[in-house]
Amino acid sequence: MDNSTTLTVIGSPFDQAMMQRCLQLAYQGMGKTSPNPLVGAVVVKNGTIVGEGYHPGIGHPHAEVFALNQAGEDSVGATLYVNLEPCNHYGHTPPCSQAIIEARIATVVMGMADPNVTASGGKERLEQAGITVMVGVEEHACRELNAGFIQRVLYQRPFGIFKYAMTLDGKIATTIGHSAWVTDVAARNRVYEQRSRCDGVIIGGNTVRQDNPYLTTHGKSDHNPLRIIMTRTFNLPPQARIFQTDEAATLVLTETENVEQQKTLEQKGVEVVQLSPLTPKAVMQYLYQRGLAKVLWECGGTLGARAINEGAVQTIMAFIAPKIIGGVTAPGPIGELGLTQMNEALILEQMNWEQLDNDYLLIGKIAQSFWEDKL
Ligand SMILES: NC(=O)c1ccc[n+]([C@@H]2O[C@H](COP(=O)([O-])OP(=O)(O)OC[C@H]3O[C@@H](n4cnc5c(N)ncnc54)[C@H](OP(=O)(O)O)[C@@H]3O)[C@@H](O)[C@H]2O)c1
Repeated sequence: MDNSTTLTVIGSPFDQAMMQRCLQLAYQGMGKTSPNPLVGAVVVKNGTIVGEGYHPGIGHPHAEVFALNQAGEDSVGATLYVNLEPCNHYGHTPPCSQAIIEARIATVVMGMADPNVTASGGKERLEQAGITVMVGVEEHACRELNAGFIQRVLYQRPFGIFKYAMTLDGKIATTIGHSAWVTDVAARNRVYEQRSRCDGVIIGGNTVRQDNPYLTTHGKSDHNPLRIIMTRTFNLPPQARIFQTDEAATLVLTETENVEQQKTLEQKGVEVVQLSPLTPKAVMQYLYQRGLAKVLWECGGTLGARAINEGAVQTIMAFIAPKIIGGVTAPGPIGELGLTQMNEALILEQMNWEQLDNDYLLIGKIAQSFWEDKL
């Protein structure tokens, strides 16, 4: 996320519809392309789609190449729509700008410029070859889709989303730590869908011990994010569900050395990495190096507050159930942030909401000015 998002409407309704089609196509690569972006492309001739493609993952051709190949000779004089500026460099594949010029495309309509300086320059190259270029069609949606890629390029960190489920009186568990379930089936399905859009999902050791979650997409998608546990004590029950690795991979990040525990978990296919000091900031740096673009914090309030205070969270997803559980010591979603005055409160931006049967989901962004200088 950056502050260059434009809300100005660019392009005709047809251009916008074609860009939405690009986004739909790009979506098919969800969870599989990182650290590469999600890209979809459409070739249109005389008002009809003659070629389509999306980027399926690293090492595979880019979306534009699939679309141009499908269009064949129909590419001559046609319009190519693509949600991200075509690349202009030799990476795993040759530059797309060159393929577009060779296919003799007349017009290129792109959703957004490439924030990656190494790959950008596609627009200029196309214009130099006499191709008409339009930028910014459905730009907001294009930026949203590739928020993880943009965050990686601009800040060398994955994009962080903090998700929690709470009762109407602001509790994420009862006084004895019981939390299954705060929300109902539709909301939980929405969480599984959100996991499928992420490369990693993070919890702390206490949530493993208290909730024993699977943290998978429960068959809603063939993509499961990497399940990441942050534990300073390394006191984790080896029989926990999260250590069943046949369906999804698990990574334990720990500060404490415990050779026996490590051996037991590794025999179950779990990866164990020591990271010291073990902080949300250090974890995000490490996950960036591993190529992750989007991570979902599903931890409790203690770790969640630290993640927010260290700039590891850009978006909040708050599921709210129409239930009241009470309890003076029952935990809330966010622990100590060190704020004492109401005028210090974090004010979320760009709020959206969804109704999921009886539950609600509020989604908002933490101001860039809050997290940017903490990275
Ligand atoms: N409703 C919901 O959405 C939801 C979601 C998650 C959790 N919960 C509830 O939240 C409660 C647990 O809350 P919690 O805050 O203790 O959650 P947590 O997700 O377990 O986070 C705290 C744990 O993170 C680990 N950790 C590693 N590095 C840390 C660091 N730098 N700073 C802080 N912690 C670090 C520690 O594990 P070790 O102790 O292993 O060292 C610590 O106990 C449970 O009752 C659970 O049911 C509810």
